Amino acid sequence: MKAGSFTLVATALVGMTSAMTPSGLIPSNKENMTVFFNTSALATNGAAVTIAGAKTAPMLALDKNLAGQTFAVVMIDPDPKGVGNGSDAILHWMQDGFSSSATSVTIAGKTVFPLVNTKNTTAVETYLSPGPPVGSTHRYTQYLLDTTSKTTFPQAGANFSRGSFTIETFLQQINMTAFSANFFNVTGGT
Ligand SMILES: *[C@@H]1O[C@H](CO)[C@@H](O)[C@H](O)[C@H]1NC(C)=O
Ligand SMILES: *[C@@H]1O[C@H](CO)[C@@H](O)[C@H](O)[C@H]1NC(C)=O
Ligand SMILES: *[C@@H]1O[C@H](CO)[C@@H](O)[C@H](O)[C@H]1NC(C)=O
Ligand SMILES: *[C@@H]1O[C@H](CO)[C@@H](O)[C@H](O)[C@H]1NC(C)=O
Ligand SMILES: *[C@@H]1O[C@H](CO)[C@@H](O)[C@H](O)[C@H]1NC(C)=O
Ligand SMILES: *[C@@H]1O[C@H](CO)[C@@H](O)[C@H](O)[C@H]1NC(C)=O
Ligand SMILES: *[C@@H]1O[C@H](CO)[C@@H](O)[C@H](O)[C@H]1NC(C)=O
Repeated sequence: MKAGSFTLVATALVGMTSAMTPSGLIPSNKENMTVFFNTSALATNGAAVTIAGAKTAPMLALDKNLAGQTFAVVMIDPDPKGVGNGSDAILHWMQDGFSSSATSVTIAGKTVFPLVNTKNTTAVETYLSPGPPVGSTHRYTQYLLDTTSKTTFPQAGANFSRGSFTIETFLQQINMTAFSANFFNVTGGT
């Protein structure tokens, strides 16, 4: 999206198109990710979602059925202290065990393959509902990681907490790059 998106990991971006993360955050779009709370609206590319609308975890989907691959999602709020760059974010959700559904669904006119937690894998960190201060807009950012080759997630060596979570450090600790990413906006008081 904006040029500012490329400051963190410029070398990793060769050949990529749109970033699908807020300006200043690590971008990724090896595949496009679709995020939605219901079938009538996409919660993608900064779309506004109300606090009530984002109360429970969104559904995730990919444009393709990537059968045989598994995924984890990491959702952060990079803006707990005002517009940030992900260096001091709040970790809102960390869940592995996702795989592509073979059955597509149509969300607001877009046909996608949902990612489902078929084995009911327990969340590493359960979904924390967005609750920014009244009048503030925070950019809730989801990173999808391809865990297909991983036997555990996150792997040993990951050392993090919900507060002061830095996605860049976390990815370095687990030696992974983001497979896909997205964000939606929530404004306090809406
Ligand atoms: C992100 O912001 C923090 C705090 O302002 C700063 O220390 C850090 O260097 C920034 N990181 C990047 C990659 O711009
Ligand atoms: C993601 O979507 C954009 C816009 O529709 C498209 O230009 C781009 O090629 C897609 N990227 C991939 C990896 O499919
Ligand atoms: C999302 O919120 C950010 C921060 O307020 C703002 O800069 C951006 O324009 C918003 N995105 C959309 C699509 O409205
Ligand atoms: C669907 O989700 C969007 C947010 O993505 C929300 O604005 C809208 O009110 C929801 N619609 C229904 C029918 O729940
Ligand atoms: C996962 O949970 C659902 C709903 O509780 C249940 O129907 C399903 O059998 C469970 N699947 C596995 C693999 O445990
Ligand atoms: C984990 O991170 C905390 C905070 O940065 C640090 O104090 C602690 O020493 C780290 N623990 C390990 C085992 O690296
Ligand atoms: C990190 O992952 C790459 C493959 O993506 C692998 O070649 C490398 O050996 C890994 N490094 C460590 C320290 O595990």
